[in-house]
Amino acid sequence: MWYFVSPQIVFGEGALDALDDVRGARALLVTDTTLVELGLVDTVATHLKKAGLAFRVFDAVEPDPSTETAYAGARMALAYEPDWIIAVGGGSVMDAAKAIWVLYERPDLEPADINPMVDLNLRRKARLITIPTTSGTGSEVTWAIVLTDTAEQRKMSLGNRENTADLAIVDPAMATGMPPRLTADTGLDALTHAIEGYTCTWHTDLTDGLCLDAAKKIFTYLPRAVADGSDAEARERLHNAATAAGLGFGNSLASMAHATGHALGAVFHVPHGRAVSLLLPYTIEYIAAEAPERFAEVAHFVGCGRDDVGEAALSLAAEIRRLCVAIGSPTSIAALGVDRETFIAHIDDLMERAFNDASMMTAARSPDYDELQRLFEYAYDGKVIDF
Ligand SMILES: NC(=O)c1ccc[n+]([C@@H]2O[C@H](COP(=O)([O-])OP(=O)(O)OC[C@H]3O[C@@H](n4cnc5c(N)ncnc54)[C@H](O)[C@@H]3O)[C@@H](O)[C@H]2O)c1
Ligand SMILES: [Zn+2]
Repeated sequence: MWYFVSPQIVFGEGALDALDDVRGARALLVTDTTLVELGLVDTVATHLKKAGLAFRVFDAVEPDPSTETAYAGARMALAYEPDWIIAVGGGSVMDAAKAIWVLYERPDLEPADINPMVDLNLRRKARLITIPTTSGTGSEVTWAIVLTDTAEQRKMSLGNRENTADLAIVDPAMATGMPPRLTADTGLDALTHAIEGYTCTWHTDLTDGLCLDAAKKIFTYLPRAVADGSDAEARERLHNAATAAGLGFGNSLASMAHATGHALGAVFHVPHGRAVSLLLPYTIEYIAAEAPERFAEVAHFVGCGRDDVGEAALSLAAEIRRLCVAIGSPTSIAALGVDRETFIAHIDDLMERAFNDASMMTAARSPDYDELQRLFEYAYDGKVIDF
């Protein structure tokens, strides 16, 4: 038995107008200071005024938000008693908003209690609207929440189907101002979701089409959006593709590039999308040596297929590296500026984190200790994997 969860989604140019029809008394707007400075919060506020909704702003969300931030936001919600939580931001803001919402509804819980097995009984106090300002994580439609436990410097993968947003507003105008590097990092995250959502062992009939089509669109439109942020067609298609990839992987799962990428991000402080996409081709080469079929299907769909199934899978890995090079993204750990000594000093930590990551269990081939160590070493040097 499988589930497919999704918010109601309003998307495309003008989608923000949907806010004008939201009925309620008070909203807590969850965001960060950059988005306030960029004026994106004001844009949303204008619509809330039209809707006659009072609001307060919680703008203290940091990149890779901590459990403390979730508690701070929940305290503000408990004092203000909103009937809407509205997240305006990237994955960090949207994940924080989901946790704030749960802790507001359920002050008896701790973030670590938010897992798929419990009944949260949400929506007694408020509902959630997500408005993504990056074209990347898909958090606007997924139930996943990633919070950092600052004491342990560890990312916790939390979430429950109930904490999926009620309404996602996917308006390209909110992402148009992203600088090229952020566009590249977040777009590559979306590509990794699309490819892992299709190739992991939890893929389903309802997620396959979303993932394949999102991957193709990202290969086409990401270079255009990075080269020219004002390319409206590229921005809109990329924004939609990131949400489609979110629906895809959010209803199947991420896989080994996320397990190893989370480890890389935590140890060397690399932005999420840059970390997972750097490792994606290496994990494809590793897995495809035993299970190439699904990668070959992606390769054919995005236009880099080969007659031989193994070669087709490897050609997908090569195509991803070509895309990274074309948009100025690193393809090796060395290129991140990590010197070899530091890398070697941290390799055990990387391995331990990757093995303990929930996304590891959905890979179609499971590495042993030596294999994973070799994968990280190949990724350090930027060498194509030959297992
Ligand atoms: N819940 C999920 O399904 C899911 C999936 C993947 C990743 N994540 C998590 O999401 C987080 C990463 O999210 P992200 O990649 O969207 O980045 P982010 O939310 O961390 O934002 C990165 C930076 O970009 C800025 N920014 C956001 N939108 C902007 C815009 N339009 N213009 C200019 N600057 C802007 C932010 O202020 C921030 O400083 C990580 O914590 C990751 O673990 C969650
Ligand atoms: Zn991701």
